[in-house]
Amino acid sequence: MRSDLKGRDLITTQEWELDAIEETLRLASDVKRRPQAYSDVFKGKSLIMLFFNPSTRTRLSFEIGMTQLGGHAVYMEADSGWIGKGSESIKDTASVMARYGDAIAIRIFPNVTGWRYGESNRVVREFALWADVPVINMECDMFHPCQALADIMTIREKKGDPKGKKFLLSWAYHPNPLPCSVPNSALLISTRFGMDVTLLHPEGFELDEQIMKWARKNVEESGGSLQVTSNVEEAYDGADVVYVKSWGSLKYYGNPQEEKKLRVKFRNWTCNEELMSLTKKDSIFMHCLPIRRNVEATDGVIDGPHSVIYDEAENRLHVQKAVLMLVL
Ligand code: CP
Repeated sequence: MRSDLKGRDLITTQEWELDAIEETLRLASDVKRRPQAYSDVFKGKSLIMLFFNPSTRTRLSFEIGMTQLGGHAVYMEADSGWIGKGSESIKDTASVMARYGDAIAIRIFPNVTGWRYGESNRVVREFALWADVPVINMECDMFHPCQALADIMTIREKKGDPKGKKFLLSWAYHPNPLPCSVPNSALLISTRFGMDVTLLHPEGFELDEQIMKWARKNVEESGGSLQVTSNVEEAYDGADVVYVKSWGSLKYYGNPQEEKKLRVKFRNWTCNEELMSLTKKDSIFMHCLPIRRNVEATDGVIDGPHSVIYDEAENRLHVQKAVLMLVL
């Protein structure tokens, strides 16, 4: 196991070198194959998980992952401590947490930081600044790195080498504006691995220009490609991987009334069997979950032959165990 990742924070996969990501994926596959081989590596070690927002997969996979490695995870709802009440600074909270825990993991969505894009990412980074133990981003308003690692692991398992495979990242309708963390992260990891990426969204749902710049740079380095379109049929045509996700419009970030007026125009943007029939016969359907059934995608797609959503969710456990072992 490489030692140079010891002490590293994971805030976005974009800040981890490709060979560090490869090492994580290699270890994750081994952990998946031989979980018993790693059953006591974290004896006496603790992970502090600070949640400002709800979670099913992230909480369970980190907590159970730590237990399986012989360590312990502490679940802390932000509101149950002074930080969530606005009564203690990030510096004091992070510095004290680092005296108790061997690593800190944080989930903080944009609603907590007033829907100012990048602000909840800034909070995670401030924790990382003051804590002298590794800080893992469990999803902020910009990134969800553990999801991206589980996604690329799943693509490899199902489709082999991602290079040259057509990856469709499609916006979908949802009644509420959701963070851009998952689409940003899916775009960054797919371009990093040389995929031919199609980003499909209606006008007004463009992703952050900095993310797009990184994605274009990734494409140059990886030999993949990136096109952006609002043509649904063209985008689905021949796809190997269909990744569906809803996200809010950055144009109206923090202005839900105006945002809703734009979003409802696209309420028919649901991934259905007809669209999936345009993809390759052996294509896979992915979603990070939770998913609004028959809104983001139909039951027929979610429960259909292309769907790999539960394998994708399972891989969260394996990649996170790998990340923890590498950074601790
Ligand atoms: N995909 C994901 O992060 O799920 P949770 O919100 O349930 O943690």
